[in-house]
Amino acid sequence: MSISEIFDSMDYGPAPESREIALDWIASHKGRFGLFVDGGWTPPASGQWFTSTNPATSEALAEIAAADASDVDAAVAAARKAQGDWATLGGHGRARHLYSLARAIQRNARLLAVLESLDNGKPVRETRDIDIPLVARHFYHHAGWAQLQGSELAGYSPMGVIGQIIPWNFPLLMLAWKIAPAIAAGNTVVLKPAEFTSLTALCFAEICKDAGLPDGVVNIVTGDGATGELIVGHKDVDKIAFTGSTEVGRRIRAATAGSGKHLTLELGGKSPFIVFDDADMDSAVEGVVDAIWFNQGQVCCAGSRLLVQEGISDRIIAKLKARMETLRLGDPLDKCIDMGAIVAPVQLQTIQTLVEKGQAEGAELWQPGWAVPKEGCFYPPTLFTNVAPAATIAQEEIFGPVVVVMTFRTPDEAIKIANNTRYGLAASIWSENINLALDVAPKLDCGVVWINSTNQFDAACGFGGNRESGFSREGGLEGMMEVLKPRFENTLPAYQTTATAEQSGATTASPLASLDRTAKLYVGGKQARPDNGYSLPVLSASGDKIAEVGWGSRKDIRNAVEAARKATGWTGTSAHNRAQVLYYLAENLETRRDEFARRLTETTGVSPEQARQEVDATLSRLFSYGAWADKYEGSIHTPPLRGVTLAMKEAIGTIGIICPDENPLLSMISLAAPAIAMGNRIVLVPSERHPLTATDFYQVLETSDVPAGVFNIITGKRDDLSKTLASHDDVKSVWYFGPEKEGAATAEAASTGNMKRIWTCHGRQRNWFDPEQGEGRDYLRHATQVKNIWIPYGE
Ligand code: NAI
Repeated sequence: MSISEIFDSMDYGPAPESREIALDWIASHKGRFGLFVDGGWTPPASGQWFTSTNPATSEALAEIAAADASDVDAAVAAARKAQGDWATLGGHGRARHLYSLARAIQRNARLLAVLESLDNGKPVRETRDIDIPLVARHFYHHAGWAQLQGSELAGYSPMGVIGQIIPWNFPLLMLAWKIAPAIAAGNTVVLKPAEFTSLTALCFAEICKDAGLPDGVVNIVTGDGATGELIVGHKDVDKIAFTGSTEVGRRIRAATAGSGKHLTLELGGKSPFIVFDDADMDSAVEGVVDAIWFNQGQVCCAGSRLLVQEGISDRIIAKLKARMETLRLGDPLDKCIDMGAIVAPVQLQTIQTLVEKGQAEGAELWQPGWAVPKEGCFYPPTLFTNVAPAATIAQEEIFGPVVVVMTFRTPDEAIKIANNTRYGLAASIWSENINLALDVAPKLDCGVVWINSTNQFDAACGFGGNRESGFSREGGLEGMMEVLKPRFENTLPAYQTTATAEQSGATTASPLASLDRTAKLYVGGKQARPDNGYSLPVLSASGDKIAEVGWGSRKDIRNAVEAARKATGWTGTSAHNRAQVLYYLAENLETRRDEFARRLTETTGVSPEQARQEVDATLSRLFSYGAWADKYEGSIHTPPLRGVTLAMKEAIGTIGIICPDENPLLSMISLAAPAIAMGNRIVLVPSERHPLTATDFYQVLETSDVPAGVFNIITGKRDDLSKTLASHDDVKSVWYFGPEKEGAATAEAASTGNMKRIWTCHGRQRNWFDPEQGEGRDYLRHATQVKNIWIPYGE
């Protein structure tokens, strides 16, 4: 036998990691864990406990407290009590605490890695080399943000108490993603781990205590979805941050509608892994292993759809099958295995059911020939070919080690198939042609793209998705912005509601007869009659009826959204061109300065001087966003890999904008200009009380080279129109700045269809003249979404 034959025939012996360290720690708590509230352990008020189980062996590991309403109350009260002192401790004080936590995590790395493997079933090789190092890195990185908060995040304050609900697939890493930025910024937290995997969160609680973190800053309440609901519904929680299934995310969006709570959602995915025919095939095959068999495929951004260019598909599939034969599955604590156990029997059942469905729908299943352990929750790596793009297994998130293969001929077709999903979390692109890869990356509707790599994470690089994968980002500056709010928001007064014409007793809607003297709507670059043929009266400041405007309906909104959908050229055009158009809008508004000032005096009752000030402030605002158009740029991160991560700021798409009544010209442009400066198209509902400055603005738009469909205006009943916008699937975001809190609540509740992002003023009135409140980075941030594109380089 030659030496190479000996090597080829050698098998791996087991290399088990000792479990004692974790079992001893559990035993030190007598196998039973209360809730971690206000820096101490308390038993559950209900006296209810549940069992945490090792999915690889089915053995019980520990008894965990099930928190009820009074426990959640106590945890929220502790967090509230601690928040003031924690915030006033200052950035440096908090940085020192986060640094201590990072050091303590490193000191306890082995305990945490083994405990995580036991509780979750994931290979200890992954917890040791990926999960726990990333957890420590997250606390180090965010110690840095706390330190720099005063200089780099000036003007922002913490949100307060944040309720955090996390899943079971990366239990400690998801905890770190949630807790580190939140406490760095001066918030306090109540976190609920997933019911299958509470142990590392409880171990982290003990680490917090030992590291001297002030009591009440971090509170851990354990329990199932019912406990989660209690946190979501708690009236003294300022923000909910959730990672988990889209279904539960949707329920949380509905439950928080109108509550004034901030919300971030990191939901499911069905991410494409695209292999072009010039890819390094062996690397791509290793990439698939990391994309879909990492953590048994229980990864929200798993590359679960393998899209292969037709000419190489047979070769890729053959190589992949050969590689699958060599994957090793077994005891998660064996350092030589590639795949461990599925988290729980119920998840195993979900995987089996979806796989059976795939077979029933005609897809071809392939699994390696080796035997799967009979005891414990194991499922083999699985490959499906002959899969139709609309098949259940190509559309539903399986959350298991199952990849479906589809082929494509051209890059355009690859992009179409890749985007043919309701999700939009991540994508991998494999090609040796960087031109091709960088051309495809921006065309994928998702938040993260890995070029010639997959499943890369770093604390400095934002992570998160689009569409039904949720909104917002975690990590880096983007993540910090999700746990802060502009400081001025703390001092804004509640709206003094202004009556609409109708409410003030003016004639109600009239039929179309007088419509020729009625201002129409503005759709697709043209003035259009409202579909229902009705108009609404407009009153002067002194209460006289001075005009009528079109009473926009659902149909008009649909037409406007359709016009906006077609105006993709605006998103693709250069920032320089968009800036030119904004300056041109200002130029044309200036030529009508007196006319607009007169209109403002007539409709709102301000003095001629105040009216001129409003027009001038509007001109300045247009200039501001002309200036910003080519300056609100992305950044380049340098995570610990040989390569770079481009954080690209992209337009969101079509944004629905609901304007307030005060300063109707200035507030309208303050909202519209940042949205279009960043390349979005808008459907804008102007002030219901004072719509005439908006309808007068049609002529400014018509003379300013604004392409048709970019800026659409629908007059009418604000809250009806906003509900229609919020429930429209082609609208990607709604900004609600109307005075009624219920209007915002309705928009939030209606947004669950495509999980669009909603930005509201929460019934608080801004001073639109104040540049801090009325313009700037916060508007631009809401007008963009960041896509992180990872580009490794070198041999
Ligand atoms: P899930 O979304 O039900 O659970 C996630 C967390 O939310 C857990 O802590 C759970 O206790 C909590 N929760 C459940 N219902 C809640 C409610 N009504 N209000 C507040 N909190 C609630 O996910 P689950 O059942 O563990 O897994 C189901 C599917 O979700 C998986 O098969 C997978 O497809 C997907 N999933 C996606 C994840 C992701 O990272 N995107 C993570 C985990 C699961």
